[in-house]
Amino acid sequence: MPSGAVQAGDLVCVTGANGFIASHLVGQLLEAGFRVRGTVRDVEDPQKVDHLKALAEACGAADRLSFAAADLMVAGSFDDAVTGCAAVVHAAASVVFNHPDPQKGIVDPSIEGTRNVLDSVRRAGCVRRVIHTSSMVAVYGWDKPRDHVFTEDDWNRASTLKNDPYGVAKVGSERAARAYVDALPEAESFELIHLNPGMVFGPPLIKPHAKASPRLVRDVISRAQPGVPRLMLSVVDVRDVAAAHVAALRHDDPPSRCLIFAENAWMTDLMSELQGMFPDVRMGTMAIPKPLVLLASLTDATLNIRQLWHLVGRPMPMDNTRSREAYGMVYRPVSETLRDTATPLIEHGWARVKRR
Ligand SMILES: NC(=O)c1ccc[n+]([C@@H]2O[C@H](COP(=O)([O-])OP(=O)(O)OC[C@H]3O[C@@H](n4cnc5c(N)ncnc54)[C@H](OP(=O)(O)O)[C@@H]3O)[C@@H](O)[C@H]2O)c1
Repeated sequence: MPSGAVQAGDLVCVTGANGFIASHLVGQLLEAGFRVRGTVRDVEDPQKVDHLKALAEACGAADRLSFAAADLMVAGSFDDAVTGCAAVVHAAASVVFNHPDPQKGIVDPSIEGTRNVLDSVRRAGCVRRVIHTSSMVAVYGWDKPRDHVFTEDDWNRASTLKNDPYGVAKVGSERAARAYVDALPEAESFELIHLNPGMVFGPPLIKPHAKASPRLVRDVISRAQPGVPRLMLSVVDVRDVAAAHVAALRHDDPPSRCLIFAENAWMTDLMSELQGMFPDVRMGTMAIPKPLVLLASLTDATLNIRQLWHLVGRPMPMDNTRSREAYGMVYRPVSETLRDTATPLIEHGWARVKRR
């Protein structure tokens, strides 16, 4: 099969374009000369599209950005969005870790939603490459020895609907997408590439982004809790995640799966470093002992006690060699990422800051 690489001038569909990662990606694609069609659930909602239009205008690309309405749970919803596209970046997903109905609220949008996107791609017949934004959670697992270093050869087999529905969703969507493409006849075939980012921090562009993964930093700045759990995070800057997607679109022969992150670090150390950068802001950076973390999760509906039971205090180092070798990734230092996450949160009032 000839390479599905795409280049400036080609039309790329980005699903969930208003999201934290996808917004940065839309900006970088426009900067790089691509035409972009972003999908959002409601194209009339200014909260979803206005910041993207502003990004396009800032780089003189207003005429290269368009939108299509699409919902992961509606079959055929992505048909219009992918028509005429050379590539699709599928970034839309339900990014929550706890839900009263985890199958419906977390797993189905990822697995059924990904199949819906691929159905539309197959029907369109013009898409050469699909980049699926998966996650490191499709790779990690607490069933491995504590000194195991995770690579793209690993698959998360530890997560269940009860203890980590988001992990189940990301593993399931990767596997479903691969099975879908493997079953296609040659004439309908297209390339499928998975990227597996770690914990994504970096500048939120609009207030809703402060509720995506930058929320961890926001909560520390806001002292939502007195401290943080000892979790190992494989941190990456959102601008580097977007750059990895652009590299994967352009690459002649990209690897089928690739971890994207800069550094493995304990959350407690990261947040102490952050406090050092903003000494006048009273942050909640104390290391919270595991029993108290578990207790706190009982009153916070966004946390899953069964998942925290396994993750708190457990080293989960990942290896980013493939991303550096295949995509030439040179990652921003985590200190820069932390500072650039916190600065807009503080300056725009998206975190409730208490000064000393
Ligand atoms: N942030 C991280 O640390 C991280 C790490 C690894 C991988 N990832 C993956 O990266 C991707 C983007 O994540 P993100 O952090 O940018 O999250 P985000 O800001 O929450 O973006 C998620 C996007 O998906 C859309 N979406 C959710 N349910 C949908 C549905 N039923 N139909 C259509 N669109 C729907 C959201 O639209 P609405 O605004 O309308 O809800 C939003 O545009 C996800 O696949 C996530 O799993 C994220």
